[in-house]
Amino acid sequence: MKTIQDILTSAHSVLVYIVLIVLILAFLNAVSGWLSKREKFEMSKDLRISLFALILSHIQLLLGLIVYFISSNGLNAITSIGIGNLNSAARLMALENPTTNIIAIVLITIGWSKHNRKETAEAKFKMISLYYGLGLLLILRRLPWSQWFG
Ligand code: HEM
Repeated sequence: MKTIQDILTSAHSVLVYIVLIVLILAFLNAVSGWLSKREKFEMSKDLRISLFALILSHIQLLLGLIVYFISSNGLNAITSIGIGNLNSAARLMALENPTTNIIAIVLITIGWSKHNRKETAEAKFKMISLYYGLGLLLILRRLPWSQWFG
């Protein structure tokens, strides 16, 4: 029978793909609005996709925090084996994934609130492009690529 830990860990793993797709779309949309000097930051499209990316990354943050405290690959790995004895795969899950992704989501949140305070469409697109782009870069750098494809 599946435990609550299995369900939340699976949800965290599946949400990765959805967060990534929506974040990439929000980033590309903002960059194209910025570079093509679109005059309006549209509620129906630009605001919606950026807000959707923000909400999904916050849900992922919340799930990640819960998983961190209940999974054997999170805090338990550090307390049972000791930080210095973790191998690189275990370190990625217990240390690097949480810290890097928290910073990434903080950047995305800063981008959202900065864009809110800007008046012009150009400045709004620019804030989303820069901060979502940086957040995305951090997330992509800390994905377990070698465990997925190695
Ligand atoms: C956008 C943010 C995040 C992304 C993209 C992400 C991505 C991932 C990925 C790809 C895995 C491996 C899943 C697998 O191999 O099936 C994972 C596992 C894990 N993540 Fe995250 N994560 C994020 C945020 C967080 C946060 C904020 C925390 C904790 C504070 C966290 C804690 C964990 C833990 C403990 C695991 C290991 C779970 C297990 O295997 O038992 N994650 N994450």
